[in-house]
Amino acid sequence: MQKTIANVLKQDSFSKENIVQLLKSTGEEQEVLFSEALKVKLKHVGNCVYLRALIELSNICQKDCLYCGIRAGNKNVSRYDISDEEILHAAKFAYNRHYGSIALQAGERVDKQFTVRIENLLKRITKLSNNELGITISFGEQTKDTYQRWFDAGAHRYLLRIESSNKGLYQQIHPNNSNHSYDARLNCLQNLQDIGYQTGTGIMIGLPFQTYDDLANDLLLLKDFDVDMVGMGPFIEHRETPMYKYKKQLKSLHERFTLSLKMIAILRILMKDINIAAATALQAIDPFGREKAIKVGANVIMPNITPTQNRASYQLYQNKPCIDESASESANKIEEKITTQGSEIAYGKRGDSKHYFRRMND
Ligand code: 5AD
Repeated sequence: MQKTIANVLKQDSFSKENIVQLLKSTGEEQEVLFSEALKVKLKHVGNCVYLRALIELSNICQKDCLYCGIRAGNKNVSRYDISDEEILHAAKFAYNRHYGSIALQAGERVDKQFTVRIENLLKRITKLSNNELGITISFGEQTKDTYQRWFDAGAHRYLLRIESSNKGLYQQIHPNNSNHSYDARLNCLQNLQDIGYQTGTGIMIGLPFQTYDDLANDLLLLKDFDVDMVGMGPFIEHRETPMYKYKKQLKSLHERFTLSLKMIAILRILMKDINIAAATALQAIDPFGREKAIKVGANVIMPNITPTQNRASYQLYQNKPCIDESASESANKIEEKITTQGSEIAYGKRGDSKHYFRRMND
């Protein structure tokens, strides 16, 4: 006979089968999972939510990921590249508001003009914030040398989602060419970890062809790889991408949402002291999506401070929330929502991953 969820949760480690059982839990059992995850979170990382002010600095992308709205092949996107001055202005805004950290993200480019520009920007942001702001970057797959240069220039966290731990599934959701290689991506993660970044990855939840076993393996990969940070959220189909054709085969948005919360809860129990972001995609499905994630284990939120005029052009998925707001509006709203549901915002704190320091000490 299968164990109850409460008994599974008493174990020190989980098998793939245990994780699948947790993922399939419903009703009261699901609530038991959620409350255990909250308990673990409060004990190991506390009640604080750390902010990473997100600047989506360009949607120019050389990749053609079959799920992503800003893929190179989408000719309907108007491409932008925010000026250095605007980026620095946004970073200063985050610093002045005591956000603690910023996150810089863009479509993937590996040309020298881009990599050198980012290096210079990182140096200037480090300087304008007296080396106080935490800097997370997310610029896709780069050479180890580029990662090292950016690290030396002041970035100390890197997010690169593996998207799925199932290589076959990875290949189904990407074009079949050397620019979209699963092994290369994994190798990048290894390089980031070797250089000394707080290393973050994640996956999408509710992809076509994805099974419960895949999701359980995703969590086990995160644990195996000993990552410091995770951002994962629901897959949301985008009309202007090749994967839109699977729309009818997907789980409902509501199911993808709940499954995402369960993934976060299980991950928190598996990896007690990492940082887990409440993905913005959750909020494309539920107006309180991110706050609900905070209640089941997440401890990081990324308020968008991209200049309003550019936001609509950075739609990786449809119904992206907050695209018509200003940086202050997004910030005020999110700050209010977080505090009304009982968590505390850690202003002025970088909120580095505790797991990272423990890993470095070991
Ligand atoms: N739905 C949900 N997440 C998406 N991403 C890209 N496209 C989508 C989509 N359609 C996520 C990927 C990528 C991150 C920047 O955004 O996981 O790594």
